[in-house]
Amino acid sequence: MYKNIRAAVVGSINMDIVLNMKKVPDVGDNVLGTDYRYACGGKGANQAIALSRLGASVRMIGKVADDANGKKLVDNLISNGIDASGVSVDGTQTGLAAIIVDGDGKNRIIVYEGANAEIDADKACEEIRDIDLLMVQFETAEDVVVNSINTAVKKGITTVIDCGPAKDFNLEAMQGATVITPNESETQMLTGVYPDSEENIEKASRILYDRSRAKYVVLKLGDRGCSIFDGKEITILPSYPAKVVDTTAAGDCFTAAMALELVRSGDIYKASDMGNRAGGIAVSRMGADVSMPTFKELSEFNG
Ligand code: RIB
Repeated sequence: MYKNIRAAVVGSINMDIVLNMKKVPDVGDNVLGTDYRYACGGKGANQAIALSRLGASVRMIGKVADDANGKKLVDNLISNGIDASGVSVDGTQTGLAAIIVDGDGKNRIIVYEGANAEIDADKACEEIRDIDLLMVQFETAEDVVVNSINTAVKKGITTVIDCGPAKDFNLEAMQGATVITPNESETQMLTGVYPDSEENIEKASRILYDRSRAKYVVLKLGDRGCSIFDGKEITILPSYPAKVVDTTAAGDCFTAAMALELVRSGDIYKASDMGNRAGGIAVSRMGADVSMPTFKELSEFNG
């Protein structure tokens, strides 16, 4: 159903080292892990893989180093059917994320940006052509995000800004994107308001709307689902029940599915519901890119 959609992702590509444990350590603690593994990740790459598994044709624009992790990550993009010709292989060190996951599936992530911080903004913008959808996140330099969005907005391309990881960002520099979509902590970082009640969801959404002039503000609210603000009213769509194993990349999965359905149908409510479904599937699986559903899995999922 999404196979005619041409998408590009400008974003990060990381090797994740994931450590599971019953309880994460407090300061000065030393705890035992239950297992660990290396996995392909990075918010940009995760979203590109999610788009590709859902059937879109995807181009990844980013940077890795000429090292073992960089090679593995590019190979992984290619084996997921992604055009990786926009990934430069001349960074100083490939990005790395250390992820600790507790017994409830909740994670904490530390990212070493490495090559992701060295993407050339002009080169990235040159790659933004012949596409229906552009997705960006905040895991690359600010000028890369801003210039990519501004280039795509000028060309009339649907643009989706995922605000992860949480950071103070000059939203005013990129006006008029189609969707801006932070999670709860990113919302607090950008607005000073934690979206823990309907009142605060509306307050935060209005601030984001005024700052970015995006068409829609979609807040990812974890197990509460998501909210949509179109400049007039707030709609809250509940999540689907899921057995939470690992929340890593659930937001990436939500954003990708939401973006594709929005391009297909033009309906932000249908699109956000699709995002909720995709997030429900992702949290029930261990890992980042490997937890992304296929289109068949997404359409059959009802929680
Ligand atoms: O959103 C999850 C991702 O955040 C991980 O794959 C990690 O690489 C960090 O970028």
